[in-house]
Amino acid sequence: MNYQWFPGHMTKAFRMMQENIKLVDLIIELTDARVPKAGRNPDLDAMGKGKARLLLLNKADLADEAVTAQWIAAFTGEGVTPLPFNAKESGSTERVRSAIRETCRERIERDRKRGIVGRPIRAMVAGIPNVGKSTFINRLAARSAAKTGNKPGVTKGKQWISLGKELQLLDTPGVLWPKFEEPGIGRDLAMIGSLNDENLDLTELAAELIILLQQDYPEAVTRRYELSEEPRETALPYAAQRLAEIAEAKNLLKQGGVPDMDRAASLLLEDFRSGRLGRISLERP
Ligand code: G4P
Repeated sequence: MNYQWFPGHMTKAFRMMQENIKLVDLIIELTDARVPKAGRNPDLDAMGKGKARLLLLNKADLADEAVTAQWIAAFTGEGVTPLPFNAKESGSTERVRSAIRETCRERIERDRKRGIVGRPIRAMVAGIPNVGKSTFINRLAARSAAKTGNKPGVTKGKQWISLGKELQLLDTPGVLWPKFEEPGIGRDLAMIGSLNDENLDLTELAAELIILLQQDYPEAVTRRYELSEEPRETALPYAAQRLAEIAEAKNLLKQGGVPDMDRAASLLLEDFRSGRLGRISLERP
């Protein structure tokens, strides 16, 4: 399946980010804790040279806690300050605020020595579509300052958001990049809903998910849909068979009692994306 998705508005958005990068002290990059590496735009590294960098592994509530801890260790010392995060949790922001102050300590100190008082820290919030940028900003602002939506690409235009006297955030649209270098990246981004579902074969994607889960979380599908235990296999016919069983278990049938594979695929993906299959990490360091 071809996963590549880089519509024109993303090129424009990335250009806007490049034009504004000189205005900020810090990049707050959000990635998805379930696919922390695949969820990072490689172009941000070049753009963010010389800037302080905070990396939030957002949706940590949906990821496997032990794997997230491994990722935090792996990212530490890579020029970013990594932090697991759950933008939906109230009371989650104090750690971020103090991490922001910590990563910008040099700049704050420099200002102090020069006698500059009250200059706010300016941060660019960046990340792939649907990663939770708007939810994060609204959480930090404790109000509805950014638009949220479950369709990739909903955050539009450019907006500065003032959070008190000490912090200003530049909200940016979710951007991907022109070429996914490694084969698993597009697939992982599709799984978490950061690509446009309308361009994807969701039945094939769901079959891939079944195979991935079979490897690392063999009980997830069986438990959720109350299916019979099966010997572990990784061939595609097995995934198709499992999908048909899900359809039957959930009574998703077409005329004549034929399992509706498309609806079963959508259900499985939705259940995975919203955490109903349990806490799952698709990528390991
Ligand atoms: P974006 O601006 O980066 O495009 O993402 P946005 O904030 O719109 O969030 C996309 C979806 O992810 C939203 O779900 C949001 O609630 C959810 N989300 C964001 N952060 C987290 C998190 O840390 N944990 C979990 N579990 N979910 C998170 P939605 O279905 O579109 O909206 P809603 O029904 O939740 O309001």
